[in-house]
Amino acid sequence: MATWTKDSWKKYPIKQQPVYENLEELSSVVSKLEKLPPLVFAGEVRSLKSKLAKVAKKEAFLLQGGDCAESFLNFGADNIRDTFKLMLQMAIVLTFSGGCPIVKVGRVAGQFAKPRSADFEEIDGRSLPSYRGDIINGFEFNEEARKPEPKRMLEAYYQSATTLNLLRAFARGGLADLREVHRWNLDFLKRAELRDKYSELSDKITQALNFIEACGINTTNTPSLRETSIYTSHEALLLPYEEALTRVDSLSLETYDCSAHMLWIGERTRGVDEAHAHFLSGVKNPLGVKIGPSAKVDEIKTLASILNKDNEEGKLNIIIRMGADKIASVLPNIFKELKKEGLNLIYSIDPMHGNTVKAGSYKTRAFDKIMQEVRMFFEIAQSEGVYPGGVHLEMTGQDVTECTGGSLNVTEQTLKERYETQCDPRLNADQALELAFLMADLLKKARA
Ligand code: PEP
Ligand code: CO
Repeated sequence: MATWTKDSWKKYPIKQQPVYENLEELSSVVSKLEKLPPLVFAGEVRSLKSKLAKVAKKEAFLLQGGDCAESFLNFGADNIRDTFKLMLQMAIVLTFSGGCPIVKVGRVAGQFAKPRSADFEEIDGRSLPSYRGDIINGFEFNEEARKPEPKRMLEAYYQSATTLNLLRAFARGGLADLREVHRWNLDFLKRAELRDKYSELSDKITQALNFIEACGINTTNTPSLRETSIYTSHEALLLPYEEALTRVDSLSLETYDCSAHMLWIGERTRGVDEAHAHFLSGVKNPLGVKIGPSAKVDEIKTLASILNKDNEEGKLNIIIRMGADKIASVLPNIFKELKKEGLNLIYSIDPMHGNTVKAGSYKTRAFDKIMQEVRMFFEIAQSEGVYPGGVHLEMTGQDVTECTGGSLNVTEQTLKERYETQCDPRLNADQALELAFLMADLLKKARA
């Protein structure tokens, strides 16, 4: 590979990029972004990496989740708060049973650019460029909206900054206080059984807090009881944006992509000789790479040598997304072969992207398939002697009907009631919490 600079990716073949008409406007937007403050601080990125090193040592578990694609239109405090509360609820369920810290990473504050399986979308005989995420073009199906506009990068930047501001406030300002555990329950958690299960757990936590408070440990003298950390992540797809936010940290003199704490490469752009792998090889952030059913073991090894050349702990997360029907035939061999290499890797499961199906005009996912892939991931990891280190979900704190099944039994007929995603179908709060209870049992077993 050529010497790395933040723009050396331009010498490599690249996939899934927009074709901008006005290159002068592109470079003017990139120069503006280069002058704007970083969204995250290198010290925070290092703290995430040290927490992920604990995942690698089986001392913690990674919960990564959020929208498939953030949108300019649905941007608002309620959305951010409800997804944050859902993550806290899931984390508490997992901590209680798994007995270990949960590292919380949102697909948030930058998750705007989307890879697409087709360059064009056809509706009623009319063909237009595909929607590639709000940072690139618009969702509406008309020529004007679908034109890639560089200035959208600035809007995405400012939305990310506002989102991060609110997340930091929620994490440090009292909402994450363990004494609030009952209040994290979202009003629309509909199924009584789930609500009761969560209430029972909250009661136990409150009891434990009462006990330690009697011993002198309380939320006033112990900040970790009233504060949490939530980190940000997104797919590093749109490289002009990532390049513009890549900075040299003045303390360590290391290079960080300061658009988010953690970045990942998608299944469609993980070619070992391509621009995305080359770009991310030069930054110090923790990274992820999505691995689908067609991945070859040698490719994964090469990716590990590119993306984690120093074999650091907590640096590289292999995000498995095979689909419930394929995981059993593919994953055991991957685990076996990679184990032989002595590589420091975290493995997590994305049970969403291998299980997408069409129901009429809607993209959906069956909740049963999602549960099944998670369960199989834990079982295969167990039998291969590998630690199942995390989960990667598309989910929202809103009461949407996008994935079928689950306790409220969303059906193909009821999908249309509240189908709000601009991209892939997300778990709603009920489905996500139900999954958290399932994973809590699996995690307990994995850590036993
Ligand atoms: C995604 O995470 O939204 C995505 C497109 O995933 P993948 O690259 O695994 O298909
Ligand atoms: Co998606």
